Amino acid sequence: MASFAVFFVCSFLISILTTSTSLETINPGQSMRDGETLVSAGGSFELGFFSPQGSTSRYLGLWLDKSPQTVLWVANRENSLSDNMGVLNITTQGILILLNSTNHIVWSSNSSASRTTQNPVAQLLDSGNFVVREGNDYNPANFLWQSFDHPCHTLIPGMRLGVNFVTRMDRFLSSWKSAEDPARGEFSFRIDPHGYPQLLLKRGNTTWQRGGSWDGIKFTSTPRPKDNPVLTNEFVFNSK
Ligand SMILES: *[C@@H]1O[C@H](CO)[C@@H](O)[C@H](O)[C@H]1NC(C)=O
Ligand SMILES: *[C@@H]1O[C@H](CO)[C@@H](O)[C@H](O)[C@H]1NC(C)=O
Repeated sequence: MASFAVFFVCSFLISILTTSTSLETINPGQSMRDGETLVSAGGSFELGFFSPQGSTSRYLGLWLDKSPQTVLWVANRENSLSDNMGVLNITTQGILILLNSTNHIVWSSNSSASRTTQNPVAQLLDSGNFVVREGNDYNPANFLWQSFDHPCHTLIPGMRLGVNFVTRMDRFLSSWKSAEDPARGEFSFRIDPHGYPQLLLKRGNTTWQRGGSWDGIKFTSTPRPKDNPVLTNEFVFNSK
């Protein structure tokens, strides 16, 4: 009987120690700590704190699959946390703030339009887009902030590359410095909007490879895409 009780207590403790809490949303006044994660409704994507293999630094990021963990996006890529005491908060203005253990801001989202918000929530959508939206407003056009506007090194379906001429926002991919360090590395993959927009792979300021301009079907220097049941590209070119 006693050994049964000991076994029961031990397995209870182990389940507390190994089960990380997963949240659906983060609201003002609520925090997500290292060890807790946000999970998309369908369960495919998870956002939380991680260390790249070979590193002890902590980063807020989002990934697909647990093992091997495929990191798709990193928030504080230029400013790592040195311990596992990081905390993610959302302000009543809908700004995400990542604090370290001494309460210094390590990273924050910056909603260009500082709209007045009633009830902002942060949520990880089934597309892998980490968004801040007004509580009852699910319209993507009204998102206050979204990780899809701030690509890291991975493009996933639904994301866009290129320039918004109205907001001047330029979305491009950039390599990690190394497998252990997600800070911005040498290579970037972007659209140069001058003239007929071109797809460029750059190393620093040097153009490494050109994909050519969009000809209506493909970029001129890339092979015509084979019919692909999974992937279609869409190119938008107008005054905005
Ligand atoms: C928190 O960040 C501040 C500012 O970057 C830094 O000076 C401080 O050492 C950090 N604290 C810890 C525990 O890393
Ligand atoms: C957002 O960006 C503006 C300028 O681009 C800056 O003045 C402001 O301090 C930033 N806010 C945060 C929370 O980083």
